[in-house]
Amino acid sequence: MPNTVIMGAQWGDEGKGKVIDIYSADADYVVRYQGGNNAGHTVVIGKDEFILHLIPSGILHKGVICVIGNGVVVDPKALLDEIKMLESKGIRVGKRLLISDRAHVILPYHRRIDELREQAKKKIGTTKRGIGPAYSDKISRLGIRMVDLLEKDTFAEKLRANLDEKNPILEKIYGTEGFSFDELHAEYSAYAGEIRKYVCDTAVILNEAIKKKKRVLFEGAQGTLLGVDYGTFPFVTSSNATAGGAATGTGVGPSRIDKVLGVVKAYTTRVGEGPFPTEFSPDLMDAIRKKGKEFGATTGRPRRCGWFDSVIVRYSVMVNGIDGIIVTKLDVLDDLDSIKICAGYRFGGKVYRDFPSSIDVLNRCVPVYEEVPGWRKDTTAVTSHSGLPANARGYLKRIEALVGTKIVLVSVGSDRKQTFRKGV
Ligand code: IMP
Repeated sequence: MPNTVIMGAQWGDEGKGKVIDIYSADADYVVRYQGGNNAGHTVVIGKDEFILHLIPSGILHKGVICVIGNGVVVDPKALLDEIKMLESKGIRVGKRLLISDRAHVILPYHRRIDELREQAKKKIGTTKRGIGPAYSDKISRLGIRMVDLLEKDTFAEKLRANLDEKNPILEKIYGTEGFSFDELHAEYSAYAGEIRKYVCDTAVILNEAIKKKKRVLFEGAQGTLLGVDYGTFPFVTSSNATAGGAATGTGVGPSRIDKVLGVVKAYTTRVGEGPFPTEFSPDLMDAIRKKGKEFGATTGRPRRCGWFDSVIVRYSVMVNGIDGIIVTKLDVLDDLDSIKICAGYRFGGKVYRDFPSSIDVLNRCVPVYEEVPGWRKDTTAVTSHSGLPANARGYLKRIEALVGTKIVLVSVGSDRKQTFRKGV
């Protein structure tokens, strides 16, 4: 397997957990490069379901080394809880987990500020995990990195400086309590003791591995349309969910990455606020949400559902340099008589096929749909592309034509086995 990025090409929740788990079987390293425990990657193996928020999905394969890259923001408590959850289910983490010494740490004041901002009228609908505030501190050069957390004096100095800024904001602007230095210092120094063994310069390790021809899989979190640069800003997360993030978020140069695969659902979903041109009307929303179990893996919130939008996926194919797409949850559409695909947006009397940057324009765009016949057959036991009903093959073919790239893998259920390759 060449060094491959697998990332979301819609608004997240495309089924990346399952796909990464499948590709991990051929990988030596699986690396998270952005986001934090806002992600929820679900992997089903037989009767067991694992929901991973921070640790790469590759952890479920014995020989694979999992890396949390510098581009990720790490909540130490969430990390330790996840390690415990895995070990309680018989998955040994041990030396298979490496965390970048340059990854930034999420602290309780980040979570508190995230929650308080979400109480405002114009909320984003975040996961309230402190992701945005932690990335803000990174960019403002105030953040505390893993390496800082591990150095006793550096941690104390930086924590004090941060609280000197955050406590007055919490107290005077939000009218709430600030944090005690002593309590935070004691709690996070204890986490540092437990995490120390995993922390190292992961950029060196990954580049050495690549020199030795080891196979590296880069695991994207969220999706392109939630990325801070190409997403529906400001209704986005605070990291680069695009393939480019794999280079900046790991210290592996772009010339060392061979392939980019984008994961899409056979329809579209998003969680939280923000424009969604192909969103379903209430009846269809309920039916698809139920059938697709469209509830957030991290927050349990019901996901908004809609028709497949080729405008956003085509745009994702372009900004990520996607070489092939993976279509998940095709089976969720099994019962429909006919299926719509958004082929463009109508705005001001014209039809656009590029994704607009203006939220105002997006809110007023009207999707231009093509309609294809449904297949009305259960596809969950299908094991090959040729085994799909003709109308399902027709649907996939139309998606390929509209988004401008090939489908390489199709998923028809949550189990590892309910997947088949299509083409190369
Ligand atoms: P944040 O990442 O918690 O700051 O949330 C910002 C936006 O990204 C919100 O709309 C969230 O619902 C969305 N979001 C964050 N992580 C995920 C994810 O893993 N899947 C889907 N949406 C996400």
